[in-house]
Amino acid sequence: MKLTADEERMLAGESGPGVQRAIELLIAVGEAYEAEKLIDISSSHILSPEMQFWNTGQLSRWSRELVAESVEGATHFRVPVTINPIFLEPTIAERLGYPENYIEEMRQSLAFGRETYARLGVIPTYTCCPFYIHPLRQGEHSGGAESLVVLFNNSVLGVMVNRESGPTALATALTGKTPLYGMHLPENRYGQALIELKDDLDPGAFTYADYNALSYGVGKMVVDKIPVFLGLPQNMSITQLKYLCAPLGVSAGIPMFHAVGITPEAPTVEAALGGRKPEMSIEVGRKEIDQAFEELCSATEPKIDYVFLGCPHVTIPEMKEIATLLQGRKIKSDLLLVVGTTEPLRLLAREMGLVDIIENSGGMVVSGMCSAGSFLRRGVPEGFHVGVVATNAAKAAHYLKAGGVQVWFGTMPECINAAVTGKWEAA
Ligand code: F3S
Repeated sequence: MKLTADEERMLAGESGPGVQRAIELLIAVGEAYEAEKLIDISSSHILSPEMQFWNTGQLSRWSRELVAESVEGATHFRVPVTINPIFLEPTIAERLGYPENYIEEMRQSLAFGRETYARLGVIPTYTCCPFYIHPLRQGEHSGGAESLVVLFNNSVLGVMVNRESGPTALATALTGKTPLYGMHLPENRYGQALIELKDDLDPGAFTYADYNALSYGVGKMVVDKIPVFLGLPQNMSITQLKYLCAPLGVSAGIPMFHAVGITPEAPTVEAALGGRKPEMSIEVGRKEIDQAFEELCSATEPKIDYVFLGCPHVTIPEMKEIATLLQGRKIKSDLLLVVGTTEPLRLLAREMGLVDIIENSGGMVVSGMCSAGSFLRRGVPEGFHVGVVATNAAKAAHYLKAGGVQVWFGTMPECINAAVTGKWEAA
């Protein structure tokens, strides 16, 4: 691989052992993908192992050691860097009844991570939706992990970014470089699978849950092919688009989709496909969407213990909808309703009086935490019982179901009703 003088200096260790290891890692990844060179990036989004994936004991120590070695000697990130949410807020962990030793270990890990990334100059977004705060422009090359961020950047903003791992994302942040392969090359960004909506669907009337279910079902069908959605409303909002993005990160292994007329590189279906024939064509109708709804539910009991909204983190319009649905109602006393977002949006929503409405109903608005993480029971001793969860997030429902948690997946009004009555009743 050809290296610039600056890259050679990093490789020689002139910026310290952490940066040296980072560029060695990026070169190794580049060689595996036959990249001819490294390129400059304009930003990165990191996903820290010690804060994102809650581990205990040995695994927790290894995560911290990995990060400490990765940043050894580094003084700053070389590009603007945003960061994913933490796994679980200790105050929520207390309310959920997590064991005290678990919470104490969590506090130590969070303090270590926050101090480490603050020292390197991270923008402390602690969100899976950094595009609310630090949006990028079409054609920018970026580094980063978190499937939602990668899908949104490539598909909605036209940013060029690969779906990276936690360690390689950190390496891009430390060096300001990434290998030139995959999504950084225009020829790899064309669509491969054509997705047409049947006449029995009216996407203009879709709920967020419908977009989630559509995307979840399509992801299972395309597996690793870049889908090209035809017939989606041209005026889709950022909220609707994030719900279209998120489930593709778990039901498929892809970094990008095209929505014709929405994705910057897809003004037409021909442009989306790069003038080629699709490798597969799929028709999706009400039957397929209903099937995705069914697949995302694992609960059998109607009694609900927790309701959470905000996977991905909620926008202000969603916060407004939640407050409107809750106005004048009380959440069942033995039930926890958590709305997850990012701190700047929580501040705005508080200013707008929306947080007060949610809190007066008995709900909580939390920021900087993965809304799904709290219920995953990762690393928690046997016997710790989370209960039955309701959510309008397909990505979260997928994770919870895989983790053995009983989950109901439905619309936002269904989730709010469940929070008030304590029972799941599909509309
Ligand atoms: Fe965000 Fe956690 Fe969902 S990182 S997309 S809230 S699984």
